[in-house]
Amino acid sequence: MGNCQCFEGFGLASKKDSFKVCICGGATSIGQQLALLMATNTFVKELSVYDLEGSMVPAEGVAADLSHLEFPCRVKAYSLPAQARPVKDLPAACLEGCSLVLVTAGVPRKPGQSRKDLLQVNAGIAKLVVEACAKRCPEAIIGLIVNPVNSVVPAMARLYEKKGLDPRRIVGVTTLDVVRANKFVYEATGAPVDSINVPVIGGHAGKSVLPLFSQEKACAELSLEHRQFLDQRVQDAGAEIVKAKCGKGSATLSLGYAGYLLGSAVLNGLAGNRTTECAYVKSNVTELPFFASPVTFGPRGVDRVHQLPRLDTYETERLKEAKQILQAEITMGLEYAETTDLVI
Ligand code: LMR
Repeated sequence: MGNCQCFEGFGLASKKDSFKVCICGGATSIGQQLALLMATNTFVKELSVYDLEGSMVPAEGVAADLSHLEFPCRVKAYSLPAQARPVKDLPAACLEGCSLVLVTAGVPRKPGQSRKDLLQVNAGIAKLVVEACAKRCPEAIIGLIVNPVNSVVPAMARLYEKKGLDPRRIVGVTTLDVVRANKFVYEATGAPVDSINVPVIGGHAGKSVLPLFSQEKACAELSLEHRQFLDQRVQDAGAEIVKAKCGKGSATLSLGYAGYLLGSAVLNGLAGNRTTECAYVKSNVTELPFFASPVTFGPRGVDRVHQLPRLDTYETERLKEAKQILQAEITMGLEYAETTDLVI
C-alpha cells in the first residue's frame, strides 16, 4: 500500500521496533482521544481498544473508525459486559503481546464524595484491568490515568509486588501537569513553546503537584509572585476545566494528549531511544515510596528515576507541603492493597 511504503521511506519504526498497545476505556472521551493519537504513532503495529458494553459508543465503532486512518497500525475492538471479570472473560488476544497498556477508566469525583470513597470505586475498576495484565502481559508497562492517581498507583503497584511482579511496571500518568506548566510559561514569557520544559514533581492533585519553574530558563525573567501564581494555576487547572465544562466533565482532550506523550515516551524507550518524561512511580528520590519526577524510559521500561535538582527557597517549602499531602494519599492506596489481592 502506498502510504505504508511512504512511512518506510521516511525510516520510521521498523518491524522489530513495532509494538502492541491496548487502551482500556478506549471508548470513553479520554480513551478515544488517546486511541486516535496512539494509532498515529508509527511504533504501534496493533492497537486493542477495550471498553465495556454500553459505553458511550461501542468499542467496535471506535476501532472501525480508527482502522481507516492511513497508518500501518491494525486496530481491534474488545468489549465485555460490566459484570464480567477481564482476567477470565476478556479474550486473551486483547492483552497478550502488549508492551504498553494505557488505562483510562474510573468515574469522576462526585460533589461531596471523599477521596477515600473515590479510591474504593476507581481502584476496584483499575484492579480488574491490572489483574488481567498480570496474567496476560506482566512485562507490559501499565500507564494509569485513573484518579486519584496519588493513591491508585501505589495500590496497583503493591498488588503487583504481592504477586512477585515488578511494581515499576505500574506508571502514573502526570504528563498533563507538565503540559499545563509549559503552556502557562509560554503564555507568560513568549519563549519558543517547544523549548520549554518544566519538570513537575510530587503527585497529581492539588497541592501535591509541584512545578519546578526554577529549572526552566525561560522563567528566569518571571518574578517570584508570578511563579507562585503559575504554580497555583497548575494546581487548579483540572478544576478550571470542570468549571468551563459547567460540571459536565473534566479534562478529556488535554488528558488524552498527555497520555499519548507518556505512551510515546515508553515506546521510544522500548525501541532503544531512551526518552525522559515526568511520571509517578515507585521511587527512592525522597523518603516517600511513590513520587512523580523525571523518569527515563529505556528498552526494559523504567530505566532511571532521576534525583531532584536543586530547588529554590519557595520550591523547598512547597515540597514539604506536597510531601505531607502525598504521604497520606499513598498510605490510603497501600491500605487498599492490604485488603485485596490479584487473582490470576
Ligand atoms: C486533571 O488534572 O484535569 C485530571 O486529572 C482530571 C480531573 O478530574 O482533575
